[in-house]
Amino acid sequence: MTEHELITAARDVQDRAHVPYSEYRVGAALETTDGEVFVGCNLENANFSNSLHAEEVAIAEAVKNGHREFARLAVSSGRRDGVTPCGMCRQTLAEFCDDDLVVYCDEGEGEEPTEYALGELLPNTITQETLE
Ligand code: THU
Ligand code: ZN
Repeated sequence: MTEHELITAARDVQDRAHVPYSEYRVGAALETTDGEVFVGCNLENANFSNSLHAEEVAIAEAVKNGHREFARLAVSSGRRDGVTPCGMCRQTLAEFCDDDLVVYCDEGEGEEPTEYALGELLPNTITQETLE
């Protein structure tokens, strides 16, 4: 899948976001090292803190289906504003993804996505090894 196709998958799933409170749609497309793609969108809740983020939904779907090795993630908001995974999602991703996970953030039509490495977004991460 090309970078643009991964961004498109993160855009398309926003149609299924449940965002009656923020009206801020987010989509995420997570690619495994063997090329499968799992998508997620944000699902808000009347008890705000119960809301699920797009990246959490995508990684849960992938892990539930037996995948634990990931290469790239694309994130997009309805505003095409270069949204990045929040701090909580960075930590959730770090549980399963290496520092070199590529993270594309959608800057909108005709603009190149901003590209980060997960280790750049979340350095000095607490991991399973930390607890050993
Ligand atoms: N949101 C995500 O889905 N992912 C992030 O990492 C950033 C924030 C959602 C949560 C909430 O539904 C809306 O964006 C506004 O914060
Ligand atoms: Zn988040």
